[in-house]
Order: sequence, then structure tokens, then C-alpha cells
Amino acid sequence: MAPPRTLTALVEEKTLQESFIRDEDERPKVAYNQFSDAIPVISLAGIEDVEGRRAEICKKIVEACEGWGIFQVVDHGVDAMLVAEMTRLSSDFFALPPEEKLRFDMSGGKKGGFIVSSHLQGEAVQDWREIVTYFSYPKRGRDYSRWPDKPEGWTAVTMAYSEKLMDLACKLLEVLSEAMGMEKEALTKACVDMDQKVVINYYPKCPQPDLTLGLKRHTDPGTITLLLQDQVGGLQATRDNGKTWITVQPVEGAFVVNLGDHGHYLSNGRFKNADHQAVVNSNRSRLSIATFQNPAPDAVVYPLKVREGEKPIMEEPITFAEMYRRKMSKDIELAKLKKLAK
Ligand code: SIN
Ligand code: FE2
Repeated sequence: MAPPRTLTALVEEKTLQESFIRDEDERPKVAYNQFSDAIPVISLAGIEDVEGRRAEICKKIVEACEGWGIFQVVDHGVDAMLVAEMTRLSSDFFALPPEEKLRFDMSGGKKGGFIVSSHLQGEAVQDWREIVTYFSYPKRGRDYSRWPDKPEGWTAVTMAYSEKLMDLACKLLEVLSEAMGMEKEALTKACVDMDQKVVINYYPKCPQPDLTLGLKRHTDPGTITLLLQDQVGGLQATRDNGKTWITVQPVEGAFVVNLGDHGHYLSNGRFKNADHQAVVNSNRSRLSIATFQNPAPDAVVYPLKVREGEKPIMEEPITFAEMYRRKMSKDIELAKLKKLAK
């Protein structure tokens, strides 16, 4: 059966189409709404070092990154009205008729737009999600012809959102640099010219959510990801290589911060790259907005600080583009092996 181009028609079916059914070992282990408070929620109030708050924030970030590679931030300075507008427009986009969404179809390798997405191109099993994505930084790389022109106001709001999230990311990279024991500019400098890509995920209600995933298990490749999620729940994390899973408690107005592979390597493995996935459910659709902050493709990936008694976890410095290429080919190899083993 050909892969569906939108999920609209499949939501009302009683059973899940074969192409979404995952092997048993990949299926959800914990319910989408069985929330855990293991991921700390950190207030950024006073981050400009009001009464020693910065050191306190730094300490909490170190603990979270050494454990899960994930924390949530509140009092982050991004206007709640802007976040509400961004959420409303995103939901409105996915509610458009399939033919409207498909005007921005990006299958065939187009940069930005709409797709029913899987983690890897050509992968056998599909994720139960629709996405719309755009590349926002560096600004010279923007291709507005790939940004939806509906719902009305999309471009203005998404532009404002991207800018505010870039500011927040820079603020967080400064504290993260200090948390790694370096000068506050260290991570921004290592990114050279920061890239930003926004992926808006829509996970419709699913007829058989126990058999599939909204987004399969992965680590993000970049430096950090700022994830906005609604109150439904579905983001899950593991810190022991898949033995136990937790569902991250949604917190109104918070951003979940995931450390990516780039951040992990730069810290010489001291800070974990968040190992996570998204699960779906049959009761409510879910929306999340992931803002990926990545280094420039030619930025060098190599530990910035190797502590006494430790060895660098990488054999040689490579570019971020090469790091990404190796990650993808490893994933493709694993997927092939899995297929062969069946
Ligand atoms: C992501 O990992 O990019 C999204 C996860 C989620 O939707 O919770
Ligand atoms: Fe992710």
C-alpha cells in the first residue's frame, strides 16, 4: 500500500494501516499520560545574576544534563501571547483540508514545507505524525516560498517566534557554557553561525496507539532543541538505554530543553544527549513545536573541555555536516539490518 500523504483519512479507521506498525521492541512501554516529574523545571528568573541566581540555575542545569540531558525552563522571557498565537496558527494549519497542506508538500527533497514524516527517508515503518517545517536561520537561507501562506498571519508570527527563540537559545548556550566550566561565549563560538530549523509536529488521534509511535526513538543531532508541547503528553525519555521510560510532565508555558549530539560531544560526553521519542493516543490529538539550534555545517565538532583524567570521546575533529552524515548512515544501516533479520 502506498504511504499516505496526509493522516486525515486514517484517523477515523478502526485499525492502524500496516505501514505504521512497529516491531514489538520499539512500541511504547509507558502510557502517554503517566507523567513523571524526574525532569527538573528550572526558573530562569534572575538569570542575569540577580542575587546569585545564575550560579543556582547553572547547578540545576549541570545536574539535569549529567542525568537526562533534558530540563524544562519557565520564566524564560518569551511572551505568552506570542506562544499562544504560534500554537493557534499551527493547529489551524493542520486543520486545513489535505489539498491545502499538500500545496507545501516537501517529499522529493524540498527544503521546508509539509509532510507525513518518518525519521529516515525511505524507512519501512512510518511515524504517526504530520509536520510542517521551515528553516529560519541564518536569515540569508530563508526561502519564503516554502513557508505556508495560510492560515493568515503565519509568516509574521513564525518570524517573531523564531527570533525570540533564537534569543532564548543564546541565553541558554551561555549558561550551558558556564555549566561546562567554560567562558560564556564558548558554545556560541563553537557553533560559528547558528542554524535554526523549526519543526511543528501534529500527532492526530490514533486508532491503535500501542502499536506505533508518533516519532521513533532518537537523539537530536544539534546543540540544543527547545520544545514547546501542549498539555496532552507524549514526550518520553530514557536514560538507561531503553530499560525504563518516563513520560515528561507537560508544564504550561514551559520549554523542554533537549541537549543534542553536538552539545554532548562538546562536553566530552559529560552532558547526555537526550534519548527520546513521542507516543500517541486514541483520545486527543497533540501538538509540539521543536526549535532546533544547530551549529553551522562546517563548524568543528570536538570536545571543548576534557577534564583531568579523561580522554576525548572523539578520535578526531570533524565538521557538523560530517557528524550528521555518519549519524544518518549508521541509522540507515541499523534499519537495513533490522529488515534483514525479519
Ligand atoms: C521531537 O523530538 O522533535 C519532538 C518530540 C515531541 O513531539 O514531543
Ligand atoms: Fe527530538
